[in-house]
Amino acid sequence: MTVQLIDGNALAAQIRAEVAGRTAALKARGIQPHLAIILVGDNPASQVYVKSKAADSEQTGLKATLERYPASLPESALLERIAALNADAGVHGILVQLPLPAHLNASRVIEAIAPEKDVDGFHIASAGALMTGQPGFRPCTPYGCMKMLQSIGMNDLRGKNAVVIGRSNIVGKPMALMLLAANATVTVCHSGTASLAAFTRQADVIVAAAGQRKVLTAGMVKPGAVVIDVGMNRDENGKLCGDVDFEGVRQVAGWITPVPGGVGPMTRAMLLVNTIEAAERASQ
Ligand code: GUN
Repeated sequence: MTVQLIDGNALAAQIRAEVAGRTAALKARGIQPHLAIILVGDNPASQVYVKSKAADSEQTGLKATLERYPASLPESALLERIAALNADAGVHGILVQLPLPAHLNASRVIEAIAPEKDVDGFHIASAGALMTGQPGFRPCTPYGCMKMLQSIGMNDLRGKNAVVIGRSNIVGKPMALMLLAANATVTVCHSGTASLAAFTRQADVIVAAAGQRKVLTAGMVKPGAVVIDVGMNRDENGKLCGDVDFEGVRQVAGWITPVPGGVGPMTRAMLLVNTIEAAERASQ
């Protein structure tokens, strides 16, 4: 069986082009879509992420302002700044990069963001909307994974078994809910699962989001399955790799996403989609 790659770079470029068109339409009405990005502290990975999020935004015509604060920023000051951004009609999306320094309560900070500007989809109101099938912002990584499935014609997963490996609030849990909404029969596996392979071998769709390399190997995959790799790890040579043993699994799977060039660019693209959506809703 020949595996097919799901090209995240190509799909993300297509999505960015659509966002650019929607941005131009808003600008023609005198509205400049605007994403405010807050970075607290100097986590090196976070610095790279926020810069690329701002660059992607600018490239599609969205305005992005990056606010950097020292790790010592008191929580009250951060909450005040978020309140000001909530009140600013010229700001459509607010993103606070995680992780936050330990003295800041991430839940309290996220809940301070107005749900209509919660373009990360992390607010409890967004999570509740996803759970109950109401409109709201969807977290960017699982949202991007769903777009990847749709790109290969898997819109309706009725009759399909889906296994999600990982149960984070940012990826695993919302991923499971989105697959469920697409009619899949969903199993969530995690570090407490006794026999991961027993579940993955039954799966037509596997989303690996464990944050651990080689969590999925060839012997754990049903021939022809679709494998989506959310992982971002380093191998023994310091090279970027996912959670999936790509070289092994590609021999068995029907479709697979590469790392890099798979889910990563899609996560970034979906942030732009959420931001333009926020701006469009605000202008209605
Ligand atoms: N840290 C790692 N991933 C993300 C993300 O998608 N959004 C934010 N705000 N922080 C993150």
